Order: sequence, then C-alpha cells, then structure tokens
Amino acid sequence: MGSCERKARRRNRREPTDARWEGRVDAGNERLPPLCDLAGTRLKSAAIVIRGVRGAQDARERRRPTDCRRRPVAALGYTRPVARPVDVDARIAANHRLSDAYNILEIEAPSIARRTRPGQFVMVKRALGCEPLLRRPFSVFEILRDARGAVTGLSLLSKQVGAVTRDLFRAEPGDRLRCLGPLGSPFTVVDPPTRAWMVAGGVGLAPFATLAEALGARGVDSTLFYGGRSGDDLYRVPFFERLGVRVVLTTEDGTRGEAGRVTAPLKRALDAAGARPLMLYACGPTPMLRAVAELAADAGRRVEVSLEPVMGCGLGGCYSCVVRVLDGGARFVRACLEGPVFEGSRVSWADLT
Ligand SMILES: Cc1cc2nc3c(=O)[nH]c(=O)nc-3n(C[C@H](O)[C@H](O)[C@H](O)COP(=O)(O)OP(=O)(O)OC[C@H]3O[C@@H](n4cnc5c(N)ncnc54)[C@H](O)[C@@H]3O)c2cc1C
Ligand code: FES
Repeated sequence: MGSCERKARRRNRREPTDARWEGRVDAGNERLPPLCDLAGTRLKSAAIVIRGVRGAQDARERRRPTDCRRRPVAALGYTRPVARPVDVDARIAANHRLSDAYNILEIEAPSIARRTRPGQFVMVKRALGCEPLLRRPFSVFEILRDARGAVTGLSLLSKQVGAVTRDLFRAEPGDRLRCLGPLGSPFTVVDPPTRAWMVAGGVGLAPFATLAEALGARGVDSTLFYGGRSGDDLYRVPFFERLGVRVVLTTEDGTRGEAGRVTAPLKRALDAAGARPLMLYACGPTPMLRAVAELAADAGRRVEVSLEPVMGCGLGGCYSCVVRVLDGGARFVRACLEGPVFEGSRVSWADLT
C-alpha cells in the first residue's frame, strides 16, 4: 500500500469533530459537554470559533502539557498570550451567601483555574437549555487550592441583578454549572520597584484577588482602594491583608472606612505619590472607572481598567461587546477578546454609558 493510500485510510478512520467530545472526562472530574450551547445561538462565527477551540483543546489533551498558561491564541484575536479556553460542566463545591445580594460560589473547574491569569473571566450559566439562552461573564475571583497547594477549582463573586446571578445565589453544593474559560486579555502584572494600586468598586473587587496574588508573588508593593455603598458591600478584606496588601476602605454611607467615594483617598494618594513608578488597575461601575482614568491621566500614571459591557458569547462571535477605542482615531473592538482589560487612555469614555 502506498503512503498516500495509508494516509487516506487513516483520515477516513477519524471520527467527526463533535463525536470526539462525547463523554470525555477531564482529570478534574469535569464532564466536557458534547456541544457548547453557544452553537445553539446559530451565530456562524461563534460556532467557527468554538470548533477551533475544541480542535485545539483536543490536540492539547493528547499532548498533555504540564503548563500551558503562556500558549498564545492569537488566532482567536487575543492581544496578549493566554491559554486556550476550556468548556466544562463543573460541580459546585460550596455557596457562601454573604448577604441578600452577594455570594461566592466555589466551582470544581481545575482545568480552567490552572489556565487563568489575573483579570480573565468565565462565561457561565446553570441550566442546559434555552432559559436563559446565553451565559453571562464573571471574573475569576479566587483560585482554590487543597491543603497541599494543588489547584482544585475557582470561585466567583456574584451580585444578584438578574436571572443568572439569581441562579448562582440559589445554587446548592452538588449542582452543576456550565463554565467556559478562561477568556479575555488579562492585566499586565508589574514588577518591583513599580508599585501597584488596585481600585475596586463593589463587585468590581472580583478580578483583584488573583491580581493581588500575582503581584505578591513578585514582591510588588500593593494597595487596594476598595469602595462600596455601605459596609455590607465590602468583602474578603482579610484575604488581601494576609497577602500584605495595604487596604483603604470607603463607603458612601460612612458605615465602614472613610465616608464618600473611593476616588477621594485615591486622589490624595496620587497627589502625594512621589516619583517612584506606579501602576493603577481599576474595576467597578463605569463612572468610577472613568473618574480613575481621569485622575491617572492628570497624574501622568498608567491605568488598566476592566470594563463590563454586555457579552453574549465571550468568544468574539456575536459583537455584542464592542467598545470604542482611541487608537489614533476611533475604532470599535470586541471587549471579550481585546479586553475586558484596557489601557485607560485608550478607552473612548464619552461612548460608554
Ligand atoms: C468581563 C466581565 C466580568 C464580570 N464579572 C462579574 C463578577 O465577577 N461578578 C458579578 O456579579 N458580575 C460580573 N459581571 C457582570 C455580569 O456579567 C452581569 O451583571 C450579568 O448581566 C448578570 O447576569 P444576570 O442574568 O443576573 O442579569 P441580566 O438579566 O443579564 O441583567 C440584569 C439587568 O442588568 C442590566 N445589565 C446587564 N449587563 C449590563 C451591563 N454590562 N451594563 C449595564 N447594564 C447591564 C440588564 O439590562 C438588566 O436590566 C461581569 C461582566 C463582565 C463583562
Ligand atoms: S461577547 Fe460575543 S463578540 Fe464579544
């Protein structure tokens, strides 16, 4: 038999792409679903991207790399080196209800957690089916580890605002969550002697747990400016303090920390910051992000902001997440690929509501 014939026979023996995914079990006991439910949205480009993700993931599973955090996926349109996303049907390990609105959900998704870099997000929903049709984006909050330090999963910090966050609030241990990630372009993690100041508003704290860990591992001098409406909106402060992060708290009603907005102590600190290099990171409501970007620009400091536009697919297929950026003119980019983290000076703030 000639080599061409042998190749043709081998090709014919291969199963179709989707069939290869049926019932496959990942090392973390996460069942990989046969078909990503996003394909059901009938968005042709999303389906193409998903097929690309699956094919590449399949190849990677066969190669079994030990660390793929830096594997570039420029083909998907990311602007920074990130690992390819994984789609899992993950078990919920715990649900910590912090108040009537906030909860922290622990999810057994080690294959996503291991690949996540600070500022990246996952697309999740509980039910398989059409209600709700689309998953919602959530920043990866904590990377969970067992007593020996092995990664066991990730957590989400969620605030109830609609159908999916209500589902997440009501979820019980043992329930399952469809989870796709890690997605998006992460924060730039600086090195000493540059200082890092994180500015969080409410649930905007979410991307900073992983960032604080990454900064701590590099020995960066870090501060968290953390504001909420009231003291009941501020969570996990000891987590940051244990990492050696200086924490400055503010509440609008004055029930905890300084009374007023988080931008007030930030402005004072910027005025007194001296010449040492400084990097700012911000996540929270758009008016807060805009104010932080302005303060940083006035002080001549760099700031990276994590935007939260509506996202339908998280994979670059639906264009629901476009934001206008100022790249020597104005153009629209997809926040799920080029963001959610953007250089503050790049964002066209006048176009954001
Ligand atoms: C990258 C990224 C990371 C995020 N991380 C978190 C997180 O860690 N924790 C968290 O609680 N939330 C996070 N969000 C926000 C969360 O995804 C949305 O609030 C989501 O819509 C909630 O889903 P839902 O079904 O509960 O509410 P929905 O039914 O989707 O929305 C409820 C209400 O909020 C409005 N709404 C939804 N999204 C937006 C928006 N972007 N701007 C203005 N109004 C909006 C809707 O119009 C509706 O009135 C993140 C968003 C992004 C883009
Ligand atoms: S969320 Fe679909 S393109 Fe960005």
